[in-house]
Amino acid sequence: MGAELSGVKVVLTGATGGVGRAVAERIARAGAEMLVIGRRAEPLEELASRHGARALVGDITERRFVHRFPDTLKELWDAGPDVLVNNAGLFELAPFGETGSEIFERLLAVNLRAPFELIRACLPGMLARGSGHIVNVGSVAGRKAFPGNAAYSASKFGLRGLHEVLVEELRGTGLRATWIEPSAVDTPLWDRFDPDGREDLPSRAEMLEPGAVAEAVFFALAQPAGVAVEEIVIRANPAGRRI
Ligand SMILES: NC(=O)c1ccc[n+]([C@@H]2O[C@H](COP(=O)([O-])OP(=O)(O)OC[C@H]3O[C@@H](n4cnc5c(N)ncnc54)[C@H](OP(=O)(O)O)[C@@H]3O)[C@@H](O)[C@H]2O)c1
Repeated sequence: MGAELSGVKVVLTGATGGVGRAVAERIARAGAEMLVIGRRAEPLEELASRHGARALVGDITERRFVHRFPDTLKELWDAGPDVLVNNAGLFELAPFGETGSEIFERLLAVNLRAPFELIRACLPGMLARGSGHIVNVGSVAGRKAFPGNAAYSASKFGLRGLHEVLVEELRGTGLRATWIEPSAVDTPLWDRFDPDGREDLPSRAEMLEPGAVAEAVFFALAQPAGVAVEEIVIRANPAGRRI
């Protein structure tokens, strides 16, 4: 077992999903102490018990959750977490005209407003200590337009804007922020859309493995304190071979 993140206190959202699970496994192997968050209690608690982590079952878009979050953190770790990984996310694929305002608002709430609120909850403690790391999991759809991605792209472009402001504001504070930007990843996020049966989507075999994203998160976190990895862009390379 590596010890690169030994004792590092990490809050990870979306831990029950494909990418989140892989991140949890990778950073737990490196010694991180984790608070894992998700809505589905059973898989979350199973994951937490496997890695000696704390589980927090909840919906990150709920006002009650956000309101209570700073106290939850304080009860667990008096000085607060060292790292926040904003990984939870919701995806939708629908033409513009079929994207209802409820869906639009839902995606903004999960993918943009919730990370904003969780960052706000973690920042004061981090700034007071002069150290801390915020990781925001974005998407290629937060940089490039794809048909059917109106709501998702709006949320991920927004999150990238928020991230870039954060990077500028954190300069000189000792804190760091990393944007992780994968192309399509083979996770349950695609289950509703049958990517293997559609011409307009990458097949699962052409997608990244969740472990590739987890390695990127680990890489950013494991850097010496004097090194800030502000952005990691990861794209699938389906025809790739190991050198
Ligand atoms: N898969 C891709 O192709 C891809 C590509 C680029 C970027 N990303 C990004 O990577 C991140 C992880 O995606 P994934 O592929 O791992 O998706 P996933 O397998 O569908 O997992 C999504 C995770 O988000 C959590 N979540 C969703 N809404 C929530 C809410 N309201 N409150 C609390 N937790 C909530 C889910 O928890 P519960 O299920 O327990 O509710 C689940 O753990 C997302 O930010 C996504 O946008 C994914």
